[in-house]
Amino acid sequence: MDIQKLLSEMTLQEKLGQLTQLNAIFFKHDNTADITGPTSRLGIEESDALYSGSTLNFIGAKDMKEIQDIAMAAQPHKIPLLFMQDVIHGYRTIYPIPLGMGCTFDEELVEECARMAGKEAAVSGVHVTFSPMLDLVRDARWGRVMESTGEDPHLNGRLGAAFVRGYQGNHLQGKYDIAACVKHFAAYGAPEAGRDYNAVELSEHTLRETYLPGYRACIDAGVEMIMPSFNTVGGVPSTCNRLLLDRILRGEWAFDGIVISDYNAYREMIRHGVAENEKHAAELAINAGCDVEMMSATTYLYAQELLAEGKLTMAQIDRAVLRVLDLKNRLGLFENPYRAASEQEEAELHLCPAHRALVRRAAEEASVLLKNEGVLPFSQKAKKVAVIGPFAKEKGIKGFWSCAGRDEDCVTVLSGVRALLPDAEVATVKGCSWAVDETAVPDLDEAIELASEADAVVLCLGEYQEHTGEGNSRATLNLSPAQMALARAVIKHNKNTAAVIFGGRPLVLTDLAEIVPAMLYVWQPGTEGGNAVARLLFGKANPSGKLSMTFPRAVGQCPIYYSRMHTGRPVKDPKVVTQSGYCSRYLDMPVAPLYPFGYGLSYNTYTYDNFTVSDDKITPDAPLEVAVTVKNEGAYEGKEIVQLYIRDKFASVARPVLELKDFAKIELAPGESAAVIFTLTEEDLRFHTADGTFASERGEFEIFVGPDSERLMSTTVYLEK
Ligand code: GLC
Repeated sequence: MDIQKLLSEMTLQEKLGQLTQLNAIFFKHDNTADITGPTSRLGIEESDALYSGSTLNFIGAKDMKEIQDIAMAAQPHKIPLLFMQDVIHGYRTIYPIPLGMGCTFDEELVEECARMAGKEAAVSGVHVTFSPMLDLVRDARWGRVMESTGEDPHLNGRLGAAFVRGYQGNHLQGKYDIAACVKHFAAYGAPEAGRDYNAVELSEHTLRETYLPGYRACIDAGVEMIMPSFNTVGGVPSTCNRLLLDRILRGEWAFDGIVISDYNAYREMIRHGVAENEKHAAELAINAGCDVEMMSATTYLYAQELLAEGKLTMAQIDRAVLRVLDLKNRLGLFENPYRAASEQEEAELHLCPAHRALVRRAAEEASVLLKNEGVLPFSQKAKKVAVIGPFAKEKGIKGFWSCAGRDEDCVTVLSGVRALLPDAEVATVKGCSWAVDETAVPDLDEAIELASEADAVVLCLGEYQEHTGEGNSRATLNLSPAQMALARAVIKHNKNTAAVIFGGRPLVLTDLAEIVPAMLYVWQPGTEGGNAVARLLFGKANPSGKLSMTFPRAVGQCPIYYSRMHTGRPVKDPKVVTQSGYCSRYLDMPVAPLYPFGYGLSYNTYTYDNFTVSDDKITPDAPLEVAVTVKNEGAYEGKEIVQLYIRDKFASVARPVLELKDFAKIELAPGESAAVIFTLTEEDLRFHTADGTFASERGEFEIFVGPDSERLMSTTVYLEK
């Protein structure tokens, strides 16, 4: 399609329609898809809605085709709709929430899962996914930490690029390739008090150094779209933030893809007190660099006046419309408006055995073994197994933002254990609910009886999926008193107990960790959760996940993260309550987290030896080779995530005590050793300096290698330049 010619023939009304995105319900009134945000009157007529250029919140190929037919019939130039959806961690076959996927440290697995999700979405008529979400997260109170791959810029960047590659495949040329949209630009994950949509107050230094690199990695990977965030950054809503959208995104990064607002975010600038009215909102957003307006119609209603008043230019409108037409053209929609939508392929692909096998493997690799004192793996010869707790038979384990996924498709822990041990007697009792209700009283008698008679007890606790995600911040992170009472009763009557914890964020597990001999954190594991949990608990799979986000001892430590600053008065030992006064301590608890970033156990023990560096200096022309030998001292096949960190000891700005610069996931047979070699370059040591340049500064660096951000071997090298 000659989109320049098409543009020249379009009326202003058609052009403004292309810059407006409306829910599918505006095209098909019986659309039953979940709406992901507040719906309120937009001030337009039904006939106006049909000029819209894209839609969201539809479900399935049939729905898509019907809506496409309705829309194109109403379009003067028969311009096809773009169909967009929140395919965040699967479409119908659901893999673990992204915070769990972050714990895999596995780019290939993430790419494979995104590819599978994109394929299932494409046959259901999706052209664009509002994924990956690259908001760096350090505060577990925020409900949307579940949607991020974690607290580290390097890990997020590598996994974010893997999501983009998985979705977009061969630059949208493939039948099942869908466009990706990185979000939420920027720093949505740092709201004050961990409360969703709240203000974000960061220095430009911290913004650039820590919060922006993940989005940039996705742009470097070719992401087609970007979505500004609801929050303000430095007092200015991202939707009209010229530093973010104009100076950095369009200027420094030269991004020429589509910028699509978040849901009703144009009009929410009025509530922020930055836009005077809807017309002013459109003026601010478009002049900052936004193209498409999601679920409001200020562009459609007021752009003509703004053009007449010289507050917008036709060139701005045309440039934005061309971006939309160009994406439609590269997706081949003018030739084939239905693209890959196919009811037949939906039936063949959704929940097919290969996709179930993939998401089960992902759930196994996302799970993190936090504690194991000789309990796991349980014997596969167990005759009597008790599966106890609110998540024993819970099918709601697919997580928030699970698109077309359905609870009824999910395998429960009880079903997974019964399937794995067909000859065992596997009994269950709930004991209490997952409600966050401080007053609920658990029903302990039957749980105690079951636990007392069992060879092994699987204690399923945690946070329900709908208590995480958008709008669901929490001021407390503890397990409920009822769940803790159930845990105490069960463990008292059977020491051969393993706790399996479900959650969409780092929960505070301090009390549970004191009494339970084994603890496996499985996040919201998705469609195959129960099978993955059973295989891990009984040794058919070996845990390898490592935390993508720090677990606090108490909510009072939030925000908490490994890459912290040293301060001028650091505590001597972060793991104990420091008695002396004038240092950066808490009176009532150690500074150290309960479990650190990068931490996770295995059924094996891995030893690290022969840590060497190729030189005691590094220069722009001479990268450093960092080597370590890792040996599997255990009895199981296993995967180990080896981590490389640095510390810049002296610089023009204070530098973190530790920064992840590389990681490698290796597979070792029992007794096998492997040499892991990292290459560290001068570019890896660059940062945003005091004078605002992005550069390295000569001087001493510590180089660390180890299994997590606490157990590290180190040496010193010098950057000479
Ligand atoms: C929501 C979310 C955003 C999502 C959009 C469309 O409010 O903030 O992540 O992509 O609306 O559902």
